[in-house]
Amino acid sequence: MIAKPRILTGDTPTGKLHLGHYVGSVENRLALQDQYDCFFLIANKHAFTTRADRPDEIRQSVIDIATDWLAVGIDPGKSAMFIQSEVPAIDELTFFFAMLIPFNRVMRNPTLTQEIKDKDLGDKYPFGFPMYAVGQCADILAFRPQLVPVGEDQLPHLELTREVARKFDQLYCGVNPHSQDNDYVKAGGLFPIIEPKLGRVKRLVGTGAPDAEGRLLKMSKSLNNAVFLSDDADALKTKIMGMYTDPKRIRVTDPGETDPEKNPLWAFHETFNTDVAWIDEHREMYTNGKIGDVAIKKKLIDVLNILLDPIRQRRKQYADRPDDVIDILRAGTARANAIAEETLALAKKAMRQDYFSRSVAIIR
Ligand code: TRP
Repeated sequence: MIAKPRILTGDTPTGKLHLGHYVGSVENRLALQDQYDCFFLIANKHAFTTRADRPDEIRQSVIDIATDWLAVGIDPGKSAMFIQSEVPAIDELTFFFAMLIPFNRVMRNPTLTQEIKDKDLGDKYPFGFPMYAVGQCADILAFRPQLVPVGEDQLPHLELTREVARKFDQLYCGVNPHSQDNDYVKAGGLFPIIEPKLGRVKRLVGTGAPDAEGRLLKMSKSLNNAVFLSDDADALKTKIMGMYTDPKRIRVTDPGETDPEKNPLWAFHETFNTDVAWIDEHREMYTNGKIGDVAIKKKLIDVLNILLDPIRQRRKQYADRPDDVIDILRAGTARANAIAEETLALAKKAMRQDYFSRSVAIIR
């Protein structure tokens, strides 16, 4: 049997998944589950970069993320879901990779700089904060995956991963630096130069008003503008009925704004409503003051319930059985260790640091 190509991706357990995660990456993971051997990582160590003082919360978030994944339809019989901190090879690779990349290069990573700004970390962030970016290279390369499905904000981390892989392959596997990215493995490299796979929607907006510059904000738990995959029908209704639309529209007969960059109601329809003819027809009516917000919102609620109902159903199976979730993570983590240990052994061999052999075991 020919092994399927691998996928590696993951989430930092910062809370429950929302619709932005769904269209940004989760949808891709579901679609690729059959053709690829999928590894989905819960980056619990990364959660400690900003929440080292809240271990209970991180523990709960790990279970929440795993439950969300099962609820959306990640099939543990096909895909391995695993916990980062239980795969020691990742940490060991992180240390070696940290030698291959200049510190200043890590600090130029725009996702890190943005995070420092957004979370107001100033110069108070821990040493482990920039290190997580190098750790992410190891999360990925430990699996030597072909594809890495992520949201757009992760691209700088993936670029760093590509740089680390090239450097390693050149230094320790004798790959010619002039090789094309696709040829690295053929030329004897251990690590493939991985490719990102972006979601259908790059940046889903939230349900709230725009910022001072008039730009709608990205959906995010911390901005309080998110629709969670775990919201029940009532919560969904409240959020959609109360969402920001066109503030200039006082009466139904006033012309309405349908630009999805300005009115999230239309951004949501364009993202989730598959009935293009319905959208075209009602957009026209909205523009011409022939239909009110309420009707468009009601339709959106129906559309979202069709997406979320099966997720809610599946969630019921797991919500009150955290032990089942742990069992699934244990099995997935064992599979992840098998691959990551193999990669680490090959890496050490390439680095001439293969002194002994060893095995890692996950015990019940
Ligand atoms: N940094 C990612 C996030 O915050 C999570 C993550 C950690 C990840 N390691 C990864 C994503 C490896 C893809 C591949 O969502």
